[in-house]
Amino acid sequence: MDNDKLKYIISSLFDVPISNKDLLVDREKELKHLNNLAYFQPMGIFGVCGETGVGKTTVLNFIETADSTKFNILITEKDSKEVIIADFLYKLSKLSLSLKNKNIEKIALEAKDFILTEKSFNSNYSGGINAFASAMYEKGLSNKKRFNIYTIKEYIEKLLELLIREYGKILIVIDELDKEKKDEVLNILDSLKNILLKENVITIVSLPFSIYREYSNDRMRWNESGNLENIFKDMIFLDPLTKEDIKKLILKRIKDYPDYFHINALEEIASFSDGNPRDALWLAQQIALYNTDKKKIDETTAKETIKSIFLRTFSKIKSFTEIQKIILKEIIKENIDRTSLVKKLQKKNIKRQTIYTYITRWKNEGLILENDDGILSLPAKVKYYVENL
Ligand SMILES: Nc1ncnc2c1ncn2[C@@H]1O[C@H](COP(=O)(O)OP(=O)(O)O)[C@@H](O)[C@H]1O
Ligand SMILES: [Mg+2]
Repeated sequence: MDNDKLKYIISSLFDVPISNKDLLVDREKELKHLNNLAYFQPMGIFGVCGETGVGKTTVLNFIETADSTKFNILITEKDSKEVIIADFLYKLSKLSLSLKNKNIEKIALEAKDFILTEKSFNSNYSGGINAFASAMYEKGLSNKKRFNIYTIKEYIEKLLELLIREYGKILIVIDELDKEKKDEVLNILDSLKNILLKENVITIVSLPFSIYREYSNDRMRWNESGNLENIFKDMIFLDPLTKEDIKKLILKRIKDYPDYFHINALEEIASFSDGNPRDALWLAQQIALYNTDKKKIDETTAKETIKSIFLRTFSKIKSFTEIQKIILKEIIKENIDRTSLVKKLQKKNIKRQTIYTYITRWKNEGLILENDDGILSLPAKVKYYVENL
């Protein structure tokens, strides 16, 4: 097929957060709510959660900030609470400097330099020779850190105040926390909450799916790691998109060649992706890449390519034991609640405890789904894989 056309298709399907609103599907409801929060709430921390690839970053990028200034802060240093706060100040001061506002520049520069000097101070001493010297250093460092943390907090306070004075409301977006483990997220939030709970500061944080799951099952125990109760004033859930929306999403991206994928091929991609836009884009792109000789992708081509890509990649990350296969195949036969599943499987000599252990693990890994009525089912991908084992 024509290389330019294929290049267009493959690059249009590339997985990047979009900035063109024409490419956005759905999410009006969630965006409206987020915009309302940003606009009407006087302050507070809010969460956006959903599985990876469902569209958190995309939604965060489309938040409108009519009356506020947006700061996207990526926390990368997470060794301790002090380090997290220092990293926050560093990122905030860098962003403040980029505003090129004379009234803010001085403090921002001072704050940034403060963090940088602290960093070099630490690393200068880090190759201690003997135990005594390094113990002395440790002592010095922790003293210094105590001192630091207050200075750092003062800088953050000052900087935020200046920013508010100059720009009115401040919207802080902390994305990519969804990539962290739950404990890390809680640690980061615990470190930053006092700084961020401030009049005219709205913070929106992306959260990992594990928190979503626990929160929606009402099993959130914030107290486990510090007193994080009520830290979120509101939580926005991003559900997977519908099949129709997934198809629309792909068609919008390849709008110059709307008939490249046959409608049934699109249907295949949509079923497979389970409403996850990242998976859908990836799959669509792979199909195009593996079929560069074809002008169009029909249903059979889509099916065959999906099968080969899928079995290859999925088997690399997952392999199941015989017992596990039996359990999964039972769930494929009929979507079923735990108790009935256990009853059925006990007849096949699988122990109750074994079944419960796997189900809990798979639920956490997203390999198994449980609805509000406790009915277990498998995501399309897993089902497909197990059926083809
Ligand atoms: N509502 C949507 N409309 C169009 N494309 C979307 C939508 N949501 C996500 N995408 C696309 O799907 C991919 C994953 O989205 P992203 O926002 O990065 O997910 P997350 O941050 O939840 O991991 C990106 O390529 C993005 O452009
Ligand atoms: Mg993201």
